[in-house]
Amino acid sequence: IPQSRMVSFSIIAHVDHGKSSLSQRLLELQGNVATGEESALDTLEVEKSRGITVKAVTASMMYGEWLVNLVDTPGHVDFAHEVRRSLAACDGALLLVDAAQGIEAQTLSVAAAARSAGVPLIAACSKCDLVTADPDAVALALCASGLVEDDDPDRVLRLSAKTGLGVPEVLPAVLGFAKQEASSRSLPLRARVVDSRYDAKRGAVCVVRVVDGVLRENQKIIFLSRPEEALSVQEVGLLTPAPLRSSSLPAGCVGYAICGLRDVRRALVGDTVAESAVEPLEAGFQPAIPALYASVFPPDGALFDDMARAVDRLALNDAAVTVEREPPRPSLGSGLRVGFLGVLHMDVFRQRLRDEFDADVLFCAPLVPYRLVKNDATVVDVKSLDDWPAVDDDEVEILEPVVDVDVLVPTSFLGAAVQTLEPRAKRQLALETTGETTVLKYVLPWARVVDGLSEELANATRGYASLAVDHAPRFETARGLVKVDIALNGTTVDALSFVAARDDAVKKGRDAAASLKTHVPRHQFEVVVQAKIGGKVLARDRIPPFRKDVLTKGGKTVGGGDVTRKKKLLEKQKQGKKRQKTIGNVALSQDAFWAVLNVK
Ligand code: GTP
Repeated sequence: IPQSRMVSFSIIAHVDHGKSSLSQRLLELQGNVATGEESALDTLEVEKSRGITVKAVTASMMYGEWLVNLVDTPGHVDFAHEVRRSLAACDGALLLVDAAQGIEAQTLSVAAAARSAGVPLIAACSKCDLVTADPDAVALALCASGLVEDDDPDRVLRLSAKTGLGVPEVLPAVLGFAKQEASSRSLPLRARVVDSRYDAKRGAVCVVRVVDGVLRENQKIIFLSRPEEALSVQEVGLLTPAPLRSSSLPAGCVGYAICGLRDVRRALVGDTVAESAVEPLEAGFQPAIPALYASVFPPDGALFDDMARAVDRLALNDAAVTVEREPPRPSLGSGLRVGFLGVLHMDVFRQRLRDEFDADVLFCAPLVPYRLVKNDATVVDVKSLDDWPAVDDDEVEILEPVVDVDVLVPTSFLGAAVQTLEPRAKRQLALETTGETTVLKYVLPWARVVDGLSEELANATRGYASLAVDHAPRFETARGLVKVDIALNGTTVDALSFVAARDDAVKKGRDAAASLKTHVPRHQFEVVVQAKIGGKVLARDRIPPFRKDVLTKGGKTVGGGDVTRKKKLLEKQKQGKKRQKTIGNVALSQDAFWAVLNVK
């Protein structure tokens, strides 16, 4: 297939606007998957169980004489980095807007991401079958917003993944993205790594877009970030999305390459694959800056290496995750400090470690990256709350990460949205009302965004407000923040400490102690939970002793004399213990570590 007949596009939209459903329908129409088959795109356990896309998926399909590559992207804000990375592999993007919901905050932010990546857009209304759908009004709004270049509302596609309406018009429209430049297949090889994942048998599997030349099996190649390591291409092919082996991938193709890379940290997304030292390709996207760090530990120190291996392998699959060794902590031993883009991102990573790597890992409550400026002007990143200055230390300035937050809300819910945002915000940047919708822009401390802002906003506005967050935090002076410590039987557990606004700290301390009371399992001795600021006790709760014996329930022995049944129950109890960490003499489960996170 000539390079001029290859085109790659991604589908971008606000969360739940129907990207995966449309992608699936397109694959059915081109015969890549059978009609009615379960989603070929959201295949991860975590995607099926939560009904969301967390990972961009690539699928190539034949359309007449054309090879069209489709990238289905995630919608949730925490995975915006996947969208930006996908755009780097695309000639254009289809901006999808739910015809019943209209333009939402992320419609604006993904369109802006496409614009800054220089990726042209065409627009489409999805879910046109819904009785509440108003595709004409949405098409008009799209054209008036200036999000797409073509301002003719009649050319906005009207689609329904449910009935199939308009779906056959998508690929013909997308062909317009094809580059009309001369073929670059005779040039020396250059291919951009756009994604990678770990395969237990084959090592790193990279998704690449071949820009120049041809990538072939058995070819000797290098990754330009480490040219000294010569590698050989073991296998290449297209993704449909199932792998379809071919002997070569010429320029224009998006496909997979396996190069025998066992050290997964080597397969860097954004790197260039070449035969010799040539000019590297631009990555096409900025590396992600973590907005949240969680310390992760194995329940048993001896399992640290297993845990680190699993984390590294999963991190290969997610270029937005950063991993570093953490100095051993007195209460927890050796651990890793893992950076994420948000709470959902972290929770999905935790679930995937369990689902895909069977790794038993405990995550501490996450911390946003605070910074300290000492009076000699040295700047220190707060890596754990051990570094937090004492309550009366006036010589240290605390900086907190802040982000720009855009909220799109029907004007009738404006009051409710402002009431939710004002107490959290540092300042308002804009309030622009156009007819029935208002765009609000605020600067918020990142900690106040991750602390349940989107849920609170959805509750206050009955789900009508939508939120987009710029994921590149800046630092500003923080005022009135204090560290709240949690002590169990008199010993402060550093992993349970958290930061709160001074006027909120007493309530949060009390709530945390109460929440721990329900999340720390009973022991054979009493456990006293205290929340403190400095040495001052804010709250005290006690967990009475209790002997947990799974073989008795309400005083009766379970399972009678059946030995296998008893064994099973004891095995279950052992499994439960596996996921606990004993600090001092108190066993803490994952719930306890996160009990402080859920405090409102
Ligand atoms: P994320 O990737 O998580 O952002 O979601 P998405 O944009 O891929 O949306 P998805 O395709 O998962 O669809 C979201 C919901 O809308 C699901 O419940 C779908 O069944 C429903 N849906 C998708 N397309 C249509 C459609 O054309 N008509 C109707 N009625 N419902 C649809």
